[in-house]
Amino acid sequence: MAPLRYAALPMPDLSIDLAGIRLGSPLIAASGTAGYGPELASVDRLRGLGAVTTKSITLEPREGNPAMRVTDLPVGMLNAVGLANVGLDAFVTNVAMKIRDLPIPAIGSIAGETIDEYEQVAAAMQAMTFFKAVEVNISCPNTDDGRVFAESPEKLRDLLVDIRGVLKNTAMIVKLPLDFGHPSRAAEVAVEAGADALTLINTVPGMSIDVKTRRSRLGRFSGGTSGPAIHSFAVRMVADVYREVASPAGIPIIGLGGVMRWQDAAEFILVGATAVGIGTALFVDPRRPRKIVKGLRKWVAAQGCDSIRDLVGAVEVA
Ligand SMILES: Cc1cc2nc3c(=O)[nH]c(=O)nc-3n(C[C@H](O)[C@H](O)[C@H](O)COP(=O)(O)O)c2cc1C
Repeated sequence: MAPLRYAALPMPDLSIDLAGIRLGSPLIAASGTAGYGPELASVDRLRGLGAVTTKSITLEPREGNPAMRVTDLPVGMLNAVGLANVGLDAFVTNVAMKIRDLPIPAIGSIAGETIDEYEQVAAAMQAMTFFKAVEVNISCPNTDDGRVFAESPEKLRDLLVDIRGVLKNTAMIVKLPLDFGHPSRAAEVAVEAGADALTLINTVPGMSIDVKTRRSRLGRFSGGTSGPAIHSFAVRMVADVYREVASPAGIPIIGLGGVMRWQDAAEFILVGATAVGIGTALFVDPRRPRKIVKGLRKWVAAQGCDSIRDLVGAVEVA
């Protein structure tokens, strides 16, 4: 009989439960960085991902902002896409069925300018039962109207209570912007309004100037910063919201912002994220999710754990 030390060690379990949805991997493709979703399937980019989020869908089609919409930064990227999308009708007719065929769960992202618009898109997403969850984007920094709800707790509450009423059988995830408040008021409101999960964070308002032309390097004056530049801000916000709001309420967090390596994802898990979003890294290297998953598996084993779930919130506080 072979000595025991040569026997295959059990692989640590990376599967998670996100508001009742079982994901094989904690990594989720972030809204707006994976097209509508099916684009990933065509080039085998899904490996390593536990779920994919659509770009934010609005009731009416949106052309978005003029070019340039994206520019590189030394530590990430700046975008002013402006929620460009085909609008709800074309999404339902031309895109949704392709999402149904994806081998991993899909999360539908919704955005709007009025509560009624949000509600109509939420109702349509709920009717497509293959959407396991709806992510409410109230935090887009590169539209003129995208942050109205994020800036007023009362308006946010009204919006989320109404969407909660629409999403009877579908999980409601609320995506919040960076917030330095203690505790985050928006996170508290989202949980009180019935959120099943929180996504933290969206891009952070930023600018980049071409000093020769003295103009913005984007077609718009400012945009949203993503990538490594925002990672430490996101880690801190996840840590605060986990401790003060989400953990007491038993609500899972999707940590999002600047995940380029497995260590970045592991940091989010340790400060309280159940799942980890990945956005900018998909533009840099579409195969990054499978590399991150490999690293996470080794890390979980090295920590002496059977499951990544054992490490959620397991940071040592000095
Ligand atoms: C080009 C681009 C488009 C985006 N579009 C959306 C969107 O439609 N809806 C949304 O909620 N977030 C959108 N985001 C924000 C991302 O989902 C994510 O919150 C942000 O990029 C931070 O994660 P990262 O640093 O891993 O990219 C977009 C980000 C980028 C870079």
